[in-house]
Amino acid sequence: MSVDPNHGSVTGDALSGACSFANEQLPTPLPAEPFAMFRAWMDEAHSKKSQPNPNAMTLCTVDPSGKPSGRVVLCRMVDGGGNYIVFFTNYDSRKGEGLEHHGYASVVFHWDHLDRQVRMEGRIVRSPAAESDAYFGRRPVMSRVAAWASDQSRPIASRADLMARNAEAERRFGIVRTGDGDEGVTVPKDIVVPRPPNWGGYRLWPEHVELWLGHSWRLHDRARWSRTLTVSRGAAGEDVLAAGAWSVTRLQP
Ligand SMILES: Cc1cc2nc3c(=O)[nH]c(=O)nc-3n(C[C@H](O)[C@H](O)[C@H](O)COP(=O)(O)O)c2cc1C
Repeated sequence: MSVDPNHGSVTGDALSGACSFANEQLPTPLPAEPFAMFRAWMDEAHSKKSQPNPNAMTLCTVDPSGKPSGRVVLCRMVDGGGNYIVFFTNYDSRKGEGLEHHGYASVVFHWDHLDRQVRMEGRIVRSPAAESDAYFGRRPVMSRVAAWASDQSRPIASRADLMARNAEAERRFGIVRTGDGDEGVTVPKDIVVPRPPNWGGYRLWPEHVELWLGHSWRLHDRARWSRTLTVSRGAAGEDVLAAGAWSVTRLQP
C-alpha cells in the first residue's frame, strides 16, 4: 500500500480522500491584524469559484442549558473596519435562542480547495434595524414572503402544511398563482414585503481569529489573533462594542 503523505495509511473502514496541500505559509512577521488576510482569502475563494457558497460558515452556538449545536449559515457582510462579520437569520430559531441567551458564538470557514480554514470566536449583537432592512430588501421577493411563512426551527406536521402556510403568506401579499412550483407566479408590481420583526442580522465581533493553512505531513501553519472587547450601553439600551488592539501568536499544528 502506498502512503499518502497527508493521511498516512488507511485501514479497515476508515474514510480516505486524496489530498495534496498547497503548502502555503503565513507571512513572517505575522500581520498585526487578521481581517485583511481573511478578506483576501474570502475574495480568492469567490474568484476561484471552487465551491458554490464560499461564504458558507459553520455557526456554533450553545443552548441555555450549555449544550452545543452547529449549522451552516452564509456570511453576508465583512465590516471594512475589521470589526465584525454579519449573517442573517430568524431571531426565534434554535440558533437565535442560544445567541440571545449567551451573546457568544463561534464560526468556521473551510475552503477545501485552497487548504484554508478560518475560525472566529466572539460576541454577538443584533444588527441595527437599518442593516437588516437593507439586506432583507435585496432578497428575492419570494424569499421575503417565505420568511413570513416559516417559524424557523419549529416542528410542522407535514411538507403540505408548510406549503399551505407559504400559500397563505403569498395571498396576504397579493401574489397570484396559476400553476404549481416556481411557474405561474404573478407578483404585484407595487408589492411591499416588510421584514418580519423576528428576522434580521447578527454581528459577530471576534475576540479570537485563527487562520490555518494546510501542509503535508500535518505540519500546518496556524496563527491566532486575540483582542479585548468592551461593552457599553447605547442610547436605545443596546450593547455597543469597542475593540482593543490585536495581539498575535503562531500555533503548533
Ligand atoms: C449552504 C447553506 C447556507 C445556509 N444559510 C443560512 C443562512 O444564511 N441563515 C439561516 O438562518 N439559515 C441558513 N441555512 C440553514 C441552516 O443551516 C439551518 O438549517 C437553519 O438556520 C436552522 O438552524 P437552527 O434550527 O439551528 O436555528 C443554510 C444552510 C446551508 C446548507
